[in-house]
Amino acid sequence: MRIKSAEFLVSNSDVEKCPKEQFPEYSFIGRSNVGKSSLINMLMQRKSLAKTSGRPGKTQLINHFLINKNWYLVDLPGYGYARVSKSSKKTFQKFITEYFAKRRQIVLAFVLIDCRHSPQPIDMEFMQWMGENQIPFSIIFTKADKLKPNALDRNIEAYTQKMLETWEEIPQYFITSSSKDLGRKELLNYIEEINLQIKNK
Ligand code: GTP
Ligand code: MG
Repeated sequence: MRIKSAEFLVSNSDVEKCPKEQFPEYSFIGRSNVGKSSLINMLMQRKSLAKTSGRPGKTQLINHFLINKNWYLVDLPGYGYARVSKSSKKTFQKFITEYFAKRRQIVLAFVLIDCRHSPQPIDMEFMQWMGENQIPFSIIFTKADKLKPNALDRNIEAYTQKMLETWEEIPQYFITSSSKDLGRKELLNYIEEINLQIKNK
């Protein structure tokens, strides 16, 4: 897919205020600092379309972008950020839960996982929750530039093995690096393919 346009539309914490048009929507979710906003910029080849930061907790709201005037890309806040207060954690959970429960446009969520770590309970729990709520998702391993090829293979293998303990099959997954532009074509083609299927239905 060629990116002809990428526009920021709106940020908010209220799902009722999200854009109303019925475009297919792809949401990026994952732990704080995993690289959601960076990946969105890499995919769109724009330096600062989505705001990034070295400090976790940068993205705090639901951010809608309209791509090629026919699909939405959504940058979400990260979960598992230890330094936020209990009450803001609750608020966060509420609006993310509501977003996934109410937002009819969602076609697929991408759960981002930092490829450097062993399987983390918080990610496993989140994917479990997605499964229970029947929200389709694919996995994106991020920051692949930080590992040597062997270590990368080992970590992905460990992850898929861990998933097979609870899942019958492993969801579609991608390996990316925002600093090296790795995985861009694969991800954009995947989204394009799904958009086409929806259009032809
Ligand atoms: P929150 O909005 O806080 O939830 O974080 P986020 O998931 O949007 O992460 P963000 O894109 O802001 O990136 C966090 C940090 O990781 C930044 O310092 C990025 O430069 C760095 N980073 C993101 N992607 C990559 C990558 O592919 N490779 C490397 N080496 N660093 C990355
Ligand atoms: Mg972010």
